[in-house]
Amino acid sequence: NTLRGAFADKFLIGTALNVRQVESKDKALQALVRDQFSAVVAENCMKAEVVQPKEGVFKFEDGDRLCDLAEKNGQVVTGHCLIWHSQAPKWFFKDKEGKTVSRDVLIQRMKDHIYKVVGHYKGRVKGWDVVNEAIEGNGEFRKSPFYKIIGPDFIRLAFQFAHEADPDVELYYNDYGMDSPRKREAVVRLVKDLKAHGCRIDAVGMQSHLGLNTSLGEYEKSMEAFIGAGVKVLVTEMELSVLPWPKGNYGAAIETNFAYKDEMDPYKDGLPEEKAKEQNDFYIKLFDIYLRHSKDIGRVTFWGVSDGDSWKNNFPIHGRTDYPLAFDRDLKPKPFVKTVIEMA
Ligand code: XIL
Repeated sequence: NTLRGAFADKFLIGTALNVRQVESKDKALQALVRDQFSAVVAENCMKAEVVQPKEGVFKFEDGDRLCDLAEKNGQVVTGHCLIWHSQAPKWFFKDKEGKTVSRDVLIQRMKDHIYKVVGHYKGRVKGWDVVNEAIEGNGEFRKSPFYKIIGPDFIRLAFQFAHEADPDVELYYNDYGMDSPRKREAVVRLVKDLKAHGCRIDAVGMQSHLGLNTSLGEYEKSMEAFIGAGVKVLVTEMELSVLPWPKGNYGAAIETNFAYKDEMDPYKDGLPEEKAKEQNDFYIKLFDIYLRHSKDIGRVTFWGVSDGDSWKNNFPIHGRTDYPLAFDRDLKPKPFVKTVIEMA
């Protein structure tokens, strides 16, 4: 009676792990990770700023330990991620004098990074999030340093390099906010463009950092559009926040206005029953969507194991109390877990 067991013949059930969890001596946590999940992904330790903090200096130890644990547990590992504007090392984009590098230099750095990292994890990682978050909610390309220095074909180049580095590894485009129709159309265009250029792309990753007001109708439409473009869908970073999204210049507002902070952290003493129920019902609707599309979905990954570990406690405001995941702060499953196991 576990998520892993119940969904075994449908899709992988994954979790993101941080170094703390990989190394944890907590037996209950380790058993839960082993029993409930058939896939794992590094929450941070395979990102470029961690893996190549200085040019030519590579740090693979934490990612290696994650792979060791996964192999012991018989779990599939996803590589996250190769090319992303965030958590990329600053040196990537600058020469020795601190000037912005040329297009050729950045392409070479992308190639070196991808070859080295994909090469290192060859045989241990099933697929890579090759490019992460390159499209904005309005459907335009994000004006990241990769885009500004190389142009939109940085995406195609990244997919080519990853495929050259390991012809057997699966390749994914990964992004958030996929319920936006403009973004949906742009991602479909991107998939078709990559295919038209002969690039391998196996799946679109729908991160699925969701809130209770996310439109499940639009979300499902996007899923169907990606499937229609001829790729699998992966749900790569799912969680369901119950906290309000701040408006305006909230960073400054939080510093100076404690009342506002309270308003933004309404459940610090516990989650009221009705909110818990609202979240529970939402999760059941989500899994209903996943089950209806299960033949085109490769994996559904929660972005963390238990509420206490979720990045949402610190994003977009630091130091709140969120309840976004499947297991609570005592590692107890939420009621929906039992329900979706029965639905599977
Ligand atoms: C987040 C991690 O969960 C945090 O620990 C870290 O501080 C910032 O990044 N999109 C992604 C993930 O692709 O890598 C991000 O993970 C969440 C948003």
